[in-house]
Parts: sequence; structure tokens; C-alpha cells
Amino acid sequence: MFNETKPAPPDSILGLTEAFRADSNPAKVNLGVGIYKDEQGATPIMAAVKVAEKHLLETQTTKSYLPIPGSPAYSAVVQKLLFGSDSSVFDRARTCHTPGGTGALRVGGDFIKKLNPNATVWVSTPTWANHKGVFGAAGLNIADYRYYDAATNGLDFSAMKADLENVPAGDIVLLHVCCHNPTGVDLEATGWAELASIAKTKGWIPFFDFAYHGFADGLEQDRAAFTPFIDAGIEFFVANSYSKNFGLYNERTGGLTVVAETADAVDAAFSHVKKTIRTNYSNPSNHGGAIVSTILESAELTQQWETELAEMRVRIHSMRKKLVDGIKNHGIDRDFGYIVEQRGMFSYSGLSDENVQALRDKSIYVVGGGRINVAGLTPSNIDAVCAAVADVL
Ligand code: LMR
Repeated sequence: MFNETKPAPPDSILGLTEAFRADSNPAKVNLGVGIYKDEQGATPIMAAVKVAEKHLLETQTTKSYLPIPGSPAYSAVVQKLLFGSDSSVFDRARTCHTPGGTGALRVGGDFIKKLNPNATVWVSTPTWANHKGVFGAAGLNIADYRYYDAATNGLDFSAMKADLENVPAGDIVLLHVCCHNPTGVDLEATGWAELASIAKTKGWIPFFDFAYHGFADGLEQDRAAFTPFIDAGIEFFVANSYSKNFGLYNERTGGLTVVAETADAVDAAFSHVKKTIRTNYSNPSNHGGAIVSTILESAELTQQWETELAEMRVRIHSMRKKLVDGIKNHGIDRDFGYIVEQRGMFSYSGLSDENVQALRDKSIYVVGGGRINVAGLTPSNIDAVCAAVADVL
């Protein structure tokens, strides 16, 4: 079977990490994959996570299987964090613990393929490099809606709305709740209300990707996007990830939440989600979800985690400014001020693919299209990065 097989191309994001690892240049910098680095260039385990792990080690008594959707305690804390503890949506929402946010997208994709095989998934232009791969692998059609305006380095909301006005009923629209990946360009609160109204009128179903909760403005502010959709009483999906905001990258800890119009409808729908999981990975691994539940069930640990999360958010924001100032100080007149306005880990820097290749030749790794992981910039690499960017422009 394998003799005639040609190698697959490397992944556009994780493939960069493989190339980075193989690079022997001691000055190499990886600004590809979205991983947070602290001032020292480390990706530490958060202190709240360490406390939770210690507690789990001391108190856990079994490694028996979890239920197919994961532990009910985990589903409960995920929903409260997603929607706020006083949300009206809980009786028509069900959540399963998935292997990271990518696993949530794929479980959702497989479930959609089962219930509505001819559905098209609409994604923003541009979108996370793996979205089309995940939904395509689930056998769904993919189409694009306009989002980013290269002329203004901002959102083309009129074009986005015009495209979403034409999405057929029953199709799925993938929306990034905050910290849009790869652009860092988000909607205003009023924009979400307009989209909720279009979704309700046209009958398409929002599928929210929420991988950066807490990285834009704060936990409460970032989840505000859901309010008009909950108020509209419509169906939607949320794929969330705790890779970034809990730093649980390799624990593969995420969730898929299905919201229906009624409690009965969501129970019927969720029975199919369970079948989807059972025929894929059967049931989730425990550790990451147990860490998140332990933290979010303790007021003290929640407070500690929120403080650490805020520190990450503030540090990333300060590196945006340093990047813009640094490029300018290296003699470049072009205005990169929009980088400071973008939110989350990533900046759609405006660097061309030729610039990206020229940076790669200097052992600085940036994703094609010019996406920079700002969270990978540190006091010790920022000057070299700014000098290299100025050099390739
Ligand atoms: C990214 O966009 O870099 C992250 O979401 C990691 C990944 O899996 O691609």
C-alpha cells in the first residue's frame, strides 16, 4: 500500500515548527504556531494549573473511563465560562469535552455531515489554515465569505454582511468570537447584533470558534458576542479551546457546545454528538478537563488563573507596540500602527509571502500570508526581529 505513496506537504503551521526544530541557527525565532512565551521565552505551566494538578494527584482514586461526552462537572464549568453563570441558555445547551478546539471542530463537522450532509460551511477570508482541512475532512462543502480588507488592514463589515445575507438556510457560518486567527481583526459589539439578526432571518447556523477567550479584552467582554444570538433563540455551535487561556496545549482540552431552540431538541441532537464521539475516540482523556474543573470550581484558583491570564494579555499587547516602534526605529516609514489595534496572539502583519520567505532565510519563522505570533516576541528577540523585518521590507 505504501510503496507508491507520495509524501504529503507539511502542515502550514505545525510544519513550520518541525522546520524550526531542525534549524541549527542559535538565533532562530519561531513566530509561527500560536504558543504563548513569557519574558524569558518559556511557555510555563500556569501556577493555578500546578496547584490543581497537585490536588488531583493527591485526591484522584481511579483512571476508569469518563462518559462519552466527558465529565458532567467539566461540561458545567465550560458552559458557565462560555456564557456567564447567570445565562438563560443552559437548559437548551449541551457540552462535550473534546480533544482541544480542533477536536471540537471535527466532532461538530462530523455531526453536521450526519444531520445535513449537503450543508456548506462558510469561512472568513482569510481563516485559520486548518478550518478548511477539518471541515473538508468531515466531507462538507466549504465556501468563503469576505472579511478582511487589505486596503484598510481592518474589517470589511459591509462585504461580510452582504455575503452572509446570501447564505442559504441550513448552511453553517464559522465565526471567530475574538482574536480572529490569522488577522487579529474583530467585530464590534454592534456587528454581532447585526449578524444575529441576519442569522435569524436567513436561517443559517452560526458555528463559533472560541480559542482565545480572555485574550482580547477580558473574559466577560470577550463572551459578550454570544448575547444577541442567545437572545434571538436560535441554534448554534461553540468550539472552545483551553490550549491558550489555561496553557493546556498538550493536554488537548476543549469543548463542543450545541445550543438548540428547546431542551428536547438539544437532547435529541446531543445523542448524535455522542454517537459521533463514540465512533471516533470513544470518550475523552481526563487530565486537562479535571484541571479546568478544579480551577473553575474554586473561587481562589479562579482568581489566580484570571490574574495570570490578564498578565498574558497585557504582555502580548505591549509587544505589539514594541514591534511597531522597533520597525520604525530601524528606519522604516511605512505605518504599521494597525498592528497595535489588532487583538489576541496574532498579527496579520502586512508582510508579503516574499518577505516571509526572506525572514525564513534569516531563521525567523512566520506563517505564509504574514501572520506573526506576537505572543512569541520577547525582550530578547524583539530587536533582532524588528531589524530583520526592516531588512526584508
Ligand atoms: C495556531 O493557529 O497557530 C494554533 O491554533 C495552533 C494550531 O493548531 O494551528
